[in-house]
Amino acid sequence: MAEIIPGVEEVVSFAVDVYEKEFGEAPDVQVFAPGRVNLIGEHTDYNEGFVMPMALPLVTVIVGKVIEGEQTTIVTTNKHADLPHRTTIEMPNKNSLVRIIPRGMPKWANYVKGVIANYLGSLPPAFRAVIHTSVPTGGGLSSSAALEVATYTFLDAITEPNTIMPTDKALACQKAEHDYAGMPCGIMDQFISALGKKDNALLIDCRNLTSTLVPLSEPEMVILVTNSNVKHELTGSEYPTRRKQCQEAALLIKKISLRDANLKDIEYLTSINTDNDIVKRARHVVTEIQRTMDGAEALNERNYRKFGRLMVESHNSLRDDFDVSCPEVDQLVELAMQVEGVLGSRMTGGGFGGCTVTLVQKYAVKNVIDNIKNNYQGKATFYVCQASDGAKILKN
Ligand code: ADP
Ligand code: GAL
Repeated sequence: MAEIIPGVEEVVSFAVDVYEKEFGEAPDVQVFAPGRVNLIGEHTDYNEGFVMPMALPLVTVIVGKVIEGEQTTIVTTNKHADLPHRTTIEMPNKNSLVRIIPRGMPKWANYVKGVIANYLGSLPPAFRAVIHTSVPTGGGLSSSAALEVATYTFLDAITEPNTIMPTDKALACQKAEHDYAGMPCGIMDQFISALGKKDNALLIDCRNLTSTLVPLSEPEMVILVTNSNVKHELTGSEYPTRRKQCQEAALLIKKISLRDANLKDIEYLTSINTDNDIVKRARHVVTEIQRTMDGAEALNERNYRKFGRLMVESHNSLRDDFDVSCPEVDQLVELAMQVEGVLGSRMTGGGFGGCTVTLVQKYAVKNVIDNIKNNYQGKATFYVCQASDGAKILKN
């Protein structure tokens, strides 16, 4: 069966219990931020293209309280985080013009440090906090973006109200990931975690950071997320390489980014004997941007069959042209597509493992799970997901 996804209240209640045990009193601030699944538009965000993710009912919660002094203490309940799970952070000096917080160990705390350092409001006071999550860690559902956006939302709750664009919050969290986790990600994960809307996917234009709601609440349709439970180490090194290859392709056709490229440009790249990998990367991005726009139109028209076909095309392009899939994930897609009632399936996220996303009619969900359980080479985990809300302050 699929995993039972705890409600936000349940995740909060667990975090509150841990807080009381750790600090001997009750927390007064509660916030959450969700993980995400991308429906279509992969490796297009850093090419200024379109993406179409939805926020998940899987969330990262932070509960806590402001304290006197300059030393923040944070605790994570996450078994997969590196040790120690309780650590302190020296808050930046009030009189200094820049907010300097050195990166360090444990690694997981760097996400929190990065967000404090890049927070756009007034300097946050010191605090104590417990972090608890239902987002699988390192599974390609953006547990790291959920942690960043939850941290930012927590800082909003404990500082004076300030007016920034919601997209600035996503940008600050993206910068934290770049500078403190060393991952040159695009904007998609932080954007959807901050701005997701229940019952909708978001079509995000990553060039001007605007988004459009795309309804996704058909009762007969299910979004099934399947975790391959593999993470190939390539993710870290290959992602920056893909980014560079895309930039190189854009340079060769004299465009600012591949957002401005079309199929004629791909023909041109082939004709000048460009390295075949560069041509393939560019072809994926150009076709994927088009598929994402077509996908939004298909969902708006409730044409789920068409959307499903686009998902499969997207997967094939990621596998063959962008070279970011892996045998386990390809097998999950194949096994899902064998089942009647499945309209589409594809890898989701950065690649080299992680999850697939499958659009399936409700009556067939159990059959998909059974087919994968019986035939998948590894051990998969399943989540039946509704499009959910982005980050919120629950209590302050
Ligand atoms: P994902 O696809 O889940 O974002 P990443 O490898 O990018 O995978 O990020 C996972 C890392 O984020 C973890 O190794 C850990 O350092 C950090 N992280 C995520 N969630 C938590 C949490 N609840 N507590 C502590 N660290 C977390
Ligand atoms: C993620 C990254 C996103 C996006 C995605 C691929 O891991 O954080 O910004 O580029 O890969 O679509």
